[in-house]
Amino acid sequence: MSEAERLIAAAREAAFRAHAPYSNFAVGAALLMADGSIVSGCNFENASYGLSLCAETVAVAAANAQGRLREIVAVGVVGGRIVDGGPSGNVPVGPCGRCRQVLNEAAQMGGRDIQIYCGAAQGDALEIYRLSELLPHAFGPANLGIR
Ligand code: THU
Repeated sequence: MSEAERLIAAAREAAFRAHAPYSNFAVGAALLMADGSIVSGCNFENASYGLSLCAETVAVAAANAQGRLREIVAVGVVGGRIVDGGPSGNVPVGPCGRCRQVLNEAAQMGGRDIQIYCGAAQGDALEIYRLSELLPHAFGPANLGIR
């Protein structure tokens, strides 16, 4: 199994645990760590809608909570409308603007341009980017002299 296939499979599994009763849109994110292990996350919505957390942000915070913020090498993201309890559809989903900024924190702290695999809930569609392509000229810890 390729790196992309492994991360998309893990992201799909995570998406099934999304708490998304308001948007009915499940997202899963799977982070590949430097040691080859995976840390995943799913979107976590709130009845006060604006407080909802995206899957990628949840995954990065989980990695940080393990003391591993600097070890993130790549991320797989999938999402889709929930049908019969799980995400559906074949349109690739990429990280929102806020999640790109959150990923940038990990990227700069770890000294890596994170690889981003955008997959769909179902099917083989895949888009591959580097974070620097999705968030060019990023503001990050380096601007504050921190790393
Ligand atoms: N969502 C994510 O989890 N990640 C993204 O990058 C885009 C959007 C979530 C937020 C909300 O729970 C649902 O998808 C619909 O916007």
